[in-house]
Amino acid sequence: MSDLLERSIEIILNNQHPSGAFPASPVFPNYQYCWFRDSAFIAFALDLAGKHESASRFHDWAAHTVNKRADIINRALEKTRDGIMPRSEDILHARYTLNSEDVEGVWPNFQLDGYGTWLWSVSEHLKITKKDPSPTWRQAMKLIAEYISALWRYPCYDCWEEFPDRIHPYTLGAIYAGLKAEASISGSEDAHEADLIKEVLFNQAIKDDHFIKHIGSDDVDASLLGLAVPYHLVEPEKPVMRNTVRFIENTLRHGGGVHRYNSDTYYGGGEWILLTAWLGWYYAVIGERTKAKNLQEWISAQADSQGYLAEQVPATLNDEKYYPIWRKRWGKIAKPLLWSHANYIILTHAIEGNIPK
Ligand code: BGC
Repeated sequence: MSDLLERSIEIILNNQHPSGAFPASPVFPNYQYCWFRDSAFIAFALDLAGKHESASRFHDWAAHTVNKRADIINRALEKTRDGIMPRSEDILHARYTLNSEDVEGVWPNFQLDGYGTWLWSVSEHLKITKKDPSPTWRQAMKLIAEYISALWRYPCYDCWEEFPDRIHPYTLGAIYAGLKAEASISGSEDAHEADLIKEVLFNQAIKDDHFIKHIGSDDVDASLLGLAVPYHLVEPEKPVMRNTVRFIENTLRHGGGVHRYNSDTYYGGGEWILLTAWLGWYYAVIGERTKAKNLQEWISAQADSQGYLAEQVPATLNDEKYYPIWRKRWGKIAKPLLWSHANYIILTHAIEGNIPK
């Protein structure tokens, strides 16, 4: 689809709720909520596309959602000061209703990466628009910085909402970037906690000269791309990052797109649009434009006749027997998935060299 860039912007804008929130997917029942993770990338994509007002409305929603939960954050801080892991009622959730309410029912809510990514996304918004944060934004950013600073040492669910008993480099990368971003906006010189995170990653999350899926694992996960872009925890050209990308290429690409990790069985474990865009983004940043463009073309070819991109493409599955199981459980693969579109927008801007440094 040749005008997928314009169509992606349109799909995202059409689905923004009056509150400013974005549903992960407007039609997939479990995804009709707003995730900090997905929406932080969506807001960044909108800023690149010049849709600053929409990005700003999302950040208003996010700041409001955080500020009204200041008591929860304070309870979590109190617990961690006493060395106690906060209880489920003392943590922020990964997703909220579009009106900022808690979603009823059980969900793997203890996830920290989305909050780090949100801080990064707000700071990119402020840089691009040359605006100052409102007092409401400042308050929410400070609360989140305190929250993720206090909690990063605890295991939590990863960005795929799995493996709650592990510490995940991608999550640490997002927290690192978020803390650096908040420190630069609040004018605080102190990014001590971010430096500690980096130290832990370099000391504990590298095996055989590549980053690993979680501390203690031998494997990779395509989300590790985030450590270079956009979180800038490691230089994209560094051997350890290049080796990680080579490992991802060798083990997580069986078709045109990128799988999450080898033992992924969600809908059989197909090729994810957003990860394919992240790999392209990485290549664009290191100047490998042809590789980036090939990945962009592969994504364009996955859009349906309405220009919709799904979450994943079930062409080369890790484990075929799980595809029908998930189809039966949750219906068709989510489509459109808004952060698939967002990451396509980001990739396109990266290829054109239009992402501000
Ligand atoms: C993914 C998350 C994502 C959520 C909403 C989950 O299946 O693993 O990364 O935030 O869907 O899109």
